[in-house]
Amino acid sequence: MRKPIIAGNWKMNLTPAESKTLAAAVVAAAGAHTGDVDVVIGPTMISLSAAAEALAGSGVGLAAQNIHAEAKGAFTGEVGASMIASLGCTHVILGHSERRTYFGETDEGVFRKLRAALAADLTPIVCIGESLGERKAERTLEKVNFQVRAALAGLDPSDVPRVVLAYEPIWAIGTGLTATPEQAEEVHSEIRKTLADMFGDDAAAQVRIQYGGSVKPGNAAELLAQPNIDGALVGGASLKADGFAAIVAAAKG
Ligand code: 13P
Repeated sequence: MRKPIIAGNWKMNLTPAESKTLAAAVVAAAGAHTGDVDVVIGPTMISLSAAAEALAGSGVGLAAQNIHAEAKGAFTGEVGASMIASLGCTHVILGHSERRTYFGETDEGVFRKLRAALAADLTPIVCIGESLGERKAERTLEKVNFQVRAALAGLDPSDVPRVVLAYEPIWAIGTGLTATPEQAEEVHSEIRKTLADMFGDDAAAQVRIQYGGSVKPGNAAELLAQPNIDGALVGGASLKADGFAAIVAAAKG
């Protein structure tokens, strides 16, 4: 009943011209699946416009990798939610662990950006996940629950189904290490319990929870077969249209 969502996080890669080419290739390779799977690509800020041209009319969604929490103002170097929406963005990735680690993104910042995204009619993809040290100390569920509660606290229950969560164990990002389907499912089902505790069973049952961290064509199907894994947030493997399309096809089941 939850429509799977496969999103590519292109991170800091590709020029606008290269992004347009890859976006067109994604449309060609995966555009036919958008009735069954939400397909989204996430170029850099400066490539959103070029990518949007290639996506026009395709049904493939467009995500920015960050926004500022305020709509506009004296915030040099930043971009507001309605600005990316005006370029054709449908989604925005929030709180990615790279932003938390390298750019000081805080739970408070994610909380505010989530509200800014919803106000601009964007679908927020909120990233959460534990470090290797936290997993070894058996603090994974505690960490992830804390991040979910911090980001979503006080949200109107009617807005909750609009939110996508992405569980990305930090130790699995860009390392070639992937959580086993069982490890991922344990966390995803815990997240859904937390959502149910916060917002009730109905809202919790509607929220899509993606897995991210070294998702590839070869491991996508077994991850996506888990009952609480509703999609994937794909880094490296999203930079090749064929591989990304294979992950989209795996989500179709
Ligand atoms: P990789 O798929 O390259 O591990 O990256 C995952 C990620 O960070 C997606 O947001």
